[in-house]
Amino acid sequence: MKRSVVAGCGAYLPERIVTNDELAKRIETSDEWIAQRTGIRQRHIAADGELTSDLAIAASRRALEKAGYNGADMDIIVLATATPDNTFPATATKVQAALGMNGGAAFDIQAVCTGFIYALAMADNMIRLGQANRALVIGAEVFSRILDWDDRGTCVLFGDGAGAVVLEAAEGGERGVLSTHLFSDGRNYESLYVDGGPGSTGTAGFLRMAGKEVYRHAVVRMAESVDLALDANGLGHDDLNWLVPHQANLRIIESTGKKLHLPMEKVIVTVDRQANTSAATIPLALAEACDDGRIVKGQLVALTAMGGGFTWGSALVRW
Ligand code: UT7
Repeated sequence: MKRSVVAGCGAYLPERIVTNDELAKRIETSDEWIAQRTGIRQRHIAADGELTSDLAIAASRRALEKAGYNGADMDIIVLATATPDNTFPATATKVQAALGMNGGAAFDIQAVCTGFIYALAMADNMIRLGQANRALVIGAEVFSRILDWDDRGTCVLFGDGAGAVVLEAAEGGERGVLSTHLFSDGRNYESLYVDGGPGSTGTAGFLRMAGKEVYRHAVVRMAESVDLALDANGLGHDDLNWLVPHQANLRIIESTGKKLHLPMEKVIVTVDRQANTSAATIPLALAEACDDGRIVKGQLVALTAMGGGFTWGSALVRW
């Protein structure tokens, strides 16, 4: 049986860090409110002129280096983003050119905060079907460009960043992506949306969110989709070494861990330092936990996310 094995992870965060206190100088908020309600203490914000593609290219270079490959070794690039550089072509094609990958195919996926799970599922399915042997899967966002900086209910929650994962086909063996589960429910379209067109170049509309509605769904859907993944593989909560959930709010992450009977020591958290980087949160967390030696070969890792659409889903990976 052919499986997609993770060969390397990489991350990139813009240099500029904006603390809660800095935001409190511009809008009516406080470090205390933001930290208590969300666990967020700071976020990274892209420099003027720094685009989603720049972040994606930097993260991809690091992932390729960890995997011991060049861009030219990849058969496909799947880039998850809700903030593409331009309406078209796909930001993935810009990344493709920058990495010197002159063959294969590169395309974007749009599932907002669930984007990385969707992208991983596409790449995994193509590898399983034999359409690709090596894939670069990226989550990259510049959400700072689509925030209404006068709306304290949303602008304090998000940050910019990118993460990337290299997958390669392996025949037989226990390791690799065991399953992916994807869902959406378009009836919730207006609970989390942008009231304008796409673009990390500054021409887009602004993010609008019914926070409480999103919160309620996030806790239920993320835990539910991990349970589905475990069931599908004949595994249980105790088999999990790590949960890597989408990072929107520490309270959502804690509730999800609790529903899955996992102690917080088994849950990767980055939201305190990076805030919500949408499609980038999961690959950013993976890169951090692989670099510092928490996630190691052979471990069982569950990824899950929920976001605009609503979309949600999970992936179960034997590292
Ligand atoms: O990736 C998926 C996308 N996003 C999410 O998953 C986010 C899901 N939602 C949430 O995380 C939470 O709903 C929020 C953090 C957004 C809000 O927390 P909450 O406990 O639901 O607060 P709230 O919206 O009910 O607001 C409570 C109060 C309000 O004041 P009043 O009406 O009670 O006087 C808000 O105006 O807090 C006020 N408030 C703020 N105060 C200080 C809202 N934002 C702020 C702020 N600073 N930044």
